[in-house]
Amino acid sequence: MEREQDGKVALVLGGSRGIGAAIVERLARDGAQVAFTYAASPGPAEALRAGIAARGGTAIALQADSGDAAQIKAAIDQTLDRFGRLDILVVNAGILRHGAIDQFPMEEFDRMVAVNIRGVFAALHYAAPRLSDGGRIVTIGSNAAARVAFAGASVYAMTKTAVAALVRGAALDLAPRRITVNNIQPGPIGTDMTEGLAEMVLPLLPLGRMGETREIAGLVAYLVRDEAAFVTGASLTIDGGYSI
Ligand SMILES: NC(=O)c1ccc[n+]([C@@H]2O[C@H](COP(=O)([O-])OP(=O)(O)OC[C@H]3O[C@@H](n4cnc5c(N)ncnc54)[C@H](OP(=O)(O)O)[C@@H]3O)[C@@H](O)[C@H]2O)c1
Repeated sequence: MEREQDGKVALVLGGSRGIGAAIVERLARDGAQVAFTYAASPGPAEALRAGIAARGGTAIALQADSGDAAQIKAAIDQTLDRFGRLDILVVNAGILRHGAIDQFPMEEFDRMVAVNIRGVFAALHYAAPRLSDGGRIVTIGSNAAARVAFAGASVYAMTKTAVAALVRGAALDLAPRRITVNNIQPGPIGTDMTEGLAEMVLPLLPLGRMGETREIAGLVAYLVRDEAAFVTGASLTIDGGYSI
């Protein structure tokens, strides 16, 4: 039976754990050949690759720090070398550090900006010329771009607001080639990043629970389908009502 993404090639930046891993799994299940990056965790990356291969899918794991533009470019090159095309780019790699504005160390600020903003720009900058016409770009921002809610989250919120703005402009730049560019803004999702935060965020969630990684992957699966070809420049919030 033909699957939605048969014949397509995807690259997921930051795909070894959490939301990124669920996206890799979903795209592979939908038929895509998937390359994904990780920065520091070869173990989970290899387990994900092997699990997909055992289920008959195709995935490759690439080590590439999204804080370094040259490593992002190399991951894009390696994906093209291996699979010969690139149809879908998902920019999920992101980091979260909390701290009040007067205490946030400058070097941590620089790292947040390097991964969460500069890394997203570098990914779009280097991938756009190599993407197939009619291709798809999806970034993973955060609902913190719409509602900060907590003290200590200013830098994270700033970086994710920048992603939403970048996506709107990039959607215009790439529209002549029918490449859509969209941004997903999750609320609290159960991953390593949110470990220990459940008690703090649950009272802010009208649906009474945190989100699941597969729910974010499901929205990615929609955005990369043919029937989403008219959706571009959008920031889509999926947060159990947190931002209402
Ligand atoms: N979880 C949430 O509640 C939530 C809510 C809103 C938005 N988000 C956003 O969703 C994305 C994923 O979050 P998550 O909760 O799944 O995070 P996570 O559990 O910490 O996983 C992050 C993934 O990205 C990779 N990664 C981290 N830094 C990287 C870097 N510099 N270069 C390349 N890969 C890197 C990690 O691999 P390594 O360990 O190997 O580095 C891992 O595969 C982030 O952009 C985050 O800001 C998350």
